Amino acid sequence: MNLPTRVKLVDVGPRDGLQNEKQPVPAAVKIELVHRLQAAGLKEIEVTSFVSPKWVPQMADNAQVMAGIARLPGVRYSVLTPNLQGFQAALLSKPDEIVVFGAASEAFSQKNINCSIAESMERFAPVVEAARAAGIYVRGAMSCAVGCPYQGEVSPDSVSYLAALMKGIGVQHIGVADTIGVGTPIKVQRALEATLRHFDVDDISGHFHDTYGQALANTLAALQMGVWQFDTSVAGLGGCPYAKGATGNVATEDVVYLLHGMGIETGIDLERLVDAGQFISDFLQRKPNSRAATALLNKRLN
Ligand code: HMG
Ligand code: MG
Repeated sequence: MNLPTRVKLVDVGPRDGLQNEKQPVPAAVKIELVHRLQAAGLKEIEVTSFVSPKWVPQMADNAQVMAGIARLPGVRYSVLTPNLQGFQAALLSKPDEIVVFGAASEAFSQKNINCSIAESMERFAPVVEAARAAGIYVRGAMSCAVGCPYQGEVSPDSVSYLAALMKGIGVQHIGVADTIGVGTPIKVQRALEATLRHFDVDDISGHFHDTYGQALANTLAALQMGVWQFDTSVAGLGGCPYAKGATGNVATEDVVYLLHGMGIETGIDLERLVDAGQFISDFLQRKPNSRAATALLNKRLN
């Protein structure tokens, strides 16, 4: 087995996690969540998205949230930018990294960003160029890399096609996303292999939603291929408003427990991470959607 000794986790909870919440979450709560994540040792946090507030009202406070964060040295803060308008707005908030997000399925591209895959590249290309000229790192996300809520199966060739387009416009790092959590390990490995045709393993991350309870298995399958970067979400928050039936990302707590149990370093303090998850879960008036967090919270009671 080709397991890495250290793994980098990007907590996408403040963005992917909260974008799907119906009740408005005040900027102060989002900021506090970011503070708690960085206090737990997260070095990468996906904070918000500069998308249309008509499409995703929960992210309308993007600039306010970015301005309210007391940034720690060594922590990188990323934001989603679907077009030049979003990028120009994001620039004022000085993100360390921006994310352009496309889809391996035409149907999902239309539903999520209101354009075809080819049109999305025309929108992303000037964003990538401007970001790189400003010294901002560019990540790409490939939604529906193993399945689409509108189109069903998505082939590795569709993933390879999108990865090539992303590489062609200058995207530096690519995320392979199972948006609706339908993937199983072999399918995820096929999507990763398709991505590896265009990106080095060090420039690939996994982004697995846990709708069908497969995300930890998929994470292990990716680790076995040498992938060492993953997007995860504290308390298992998450989902995309334009992906019917999609639930949260794999919980950061569960992935940290898995990795530490295998002797793989993350730099994250699991107990403090559990506290961060409890903070946001209390606000949302629910229990953390993480088995590891639940077990550790129960243990504290005994
Ligand atoms: P559109 O309607 O085609 O945009 O939306 P448009 O260029 O025609 O503009 C229409 C209006 O939107 C105009 O305003 C623009 O100013 C405004 P109006 O004149 O009508 O008042 N507008 C914007 N406002 C703020 N920020 C912007 C922006 N752009 C245009 N950046 C658009 C196209 C991409 C904007 C829209 O479809 C959108 O915002 N989509 C975002 C959907 C989204 O956020 N989805 C969730 C994130 S992706 C995800 O979760 C997947 C991921 O986690 C990986 C995975 O799991 O798969 C990353
Ligand atoms: Mg997602």
